[in-house]
Amino acid sequence: MAPDTERRLGSSLMKYGTVTSLLVVLVAYWYRSPQDSGGLDARLDAVLSSLLRAESKVGVNSASRPKVAIGFGGCVDIIVDGVELLNKIGLQPTATPLHHDYIQNAEQLAESFAYFFAPGAASERFVMNETLFSQLVEASRELPGNRWSVGGNAPVMAGRMALEGCDVLLGGTFSTDFNDVLSEHITVAGNDVDEPDIHLIMEYPSGATWGPYTSRRANRYIVHSDEHNPYLDSMEAFERQLLDFQPDLLVVGGLQMMDNFPFKEGERQSLLSHLSSLMSSASAETSVHFEMASFVDEELLAELLEGVVPLADSLGMNEQELPNLLSLLRGSNVTVLSDPNPRVATVLDQMRALYSLLNEQHTESGRGRALTRLHVHTLAFQAMIVRDGTRWKNTMSATAKASLTAHRHVCGSAEVDTSKARLIMDDSFSVSRREGSERIPLEETRPVSCWRERDYQICVAPVLVCTEVFQTAGGGDNISAAGLVLQI
Ligand SMILES: *[C@@H]1O[C@H](CO)[C@@H](O)[C@H](O)[C@H]1NC(C)=O
Ligand SMILES: *[C@@H]1O[C@H](CO)[C@@H](O)[C@H](O)[C@H]1NC(C)=O
Ligand SMILES: *[C@@H]1O[C@H](CO)[C@@H](O)[C@H](O)[C@H]1NC(C)=O
Repeated sequence: MAPDTERRLGSSLMKYGTVTSLLVVLVAYWYRSPQDSGGLDARLDAVLSSLLRAESKVGVNSASRPKVAIGFGGCVDIIVDGVELLNKIGLQPTATPLHHDYIQNAEQLAESFAYFFAPGAASERFVMNETLFSQLVEASRELPGNRWSVGGNAPVMAGRMALEGCDVLLGGTFSTDFNDVLSEHITVAGNDVDEPDIHLIMEYPSGATWGPYTSRRANRYIVHSDEHNPYLDSMEAFERQLLDFQPDLLVVGGLQMMDNFPFKEGERQSLLSHLSSLMSSASAETSVHFEMASFVDEELLAELLEGVVPLADSLGMNEQELPNLLSLLRGSNVTVLSDPNPRVATVLDQMRALYSLLNEQHTESGRGRALTRLHVHTLAFQAMIVRDGTRWKNTMSATAKASLTAHRHVCGSAEVDTSKARLIMDDSFSVSRREGSERIPLEETRPVSCWRERDYQICVAPVLVCTEVFQTAGGGDNISAAGLVLQI
């Protein structure tokens, strides 16, 4: 509905008063309800087939497999139902949801979990207390329904890229049995270890309850107590092979394992300056993507903004990470918790601001790379900004693929089943929160909306949100990788 229509409707309702508005509601209800489910299903099916068509318009060139180098890190994920785990260890729901930068004891775990669980916001925290972390992992092992899988941003992105037809160089430290489960198209650069780092993924569905708290959407709370990943162990081996490998794309992620890690004085700075030099040495033919994550350590973030972000042409992040980065760039504090279900207009405005700020910085400093691609994944939609005349191609198809991958990942199935999906995005969206902005209808047969502004194209695709959640963790990595793969 166009804004002026809304306003007209609003004023006429006021004129005729409550009786009319009640009538309008009743009529609307009567009009919709008989074919509600049938109509909705048909709509979802139409959106799905259009997204599939958009995705398959272009493919990865399987003859000349694109080469992608991805760092850093890797771990074994143990995935459990978060509330079941807390119940099993007898942790009572806290009365005080509270943010903690890292976790030292069970009470802080309860407070931190409650803080993110109710809004349903993705979060990841370092557990400083090894005893507590071992207890949690032991209890998880005993929980019925637990699952183990290859985890960490880099290996998940590597797996997705290999699956989609790329040859991958993966910088990570793994145990040997772990190497065996990786695709044949993945070459690992890094050391072998006996005990890989473990990440404990506490998943919860939408509407789950823990004491007085009810989750507003499905998501996960992750805890880890890594020993290898924070040191970017594989960086040197990765760097040695990078020159010969000559990738089309270099992806850097997994740096959140450094967040609030108790490094020795100067250790983190020296790791990051090594990383900066690795990224700067990428040839002009190699595009560079940085995948953001859940960071709260302001010093680390400041270092990333100084030495990592400016060296990337492309950034990927979710609806929590976008406002966080923007807030820091504007000289404010970390935003620990943002709206987990933001409107399209809000996200697009934040993306435009981030794009402009980073490019202004790049122009002023004259170093690093211009930001030419920005991909934001949210529960309800995928959004991309891609600069005109750059190497990034197929933005429309890439946005569609990212959207389909979101459903496939969360439902744990390559097939998209519309009986397990719903659209959260409204029937139309405003392109900005600025007054008088254009509204774009969500058309079933052309669900990916793309348009040009200034020197870039914006594409927005609705997500067929999975309603029978298999797993949310790793979603951002799978989605980001799927978006990138059609653009290189
Ligand atoms: C670490 O966790 C254990 C087990 O929950 C607890 O007994 C201990 O007090 C914690 N240590 C600190 C320093 O909080
Ligand atoms: C994410 O992508 C990987 C490929 O690395 C795939 O094996 C995995 O099943 C995907 N995750 C989910 C939950 O679909
Ligand atoms: C930022 O954080 C500091 C320390 O945590 C606090 O003192 C300050 O008030 C915060 N500033 C803003 C703008 O929130």
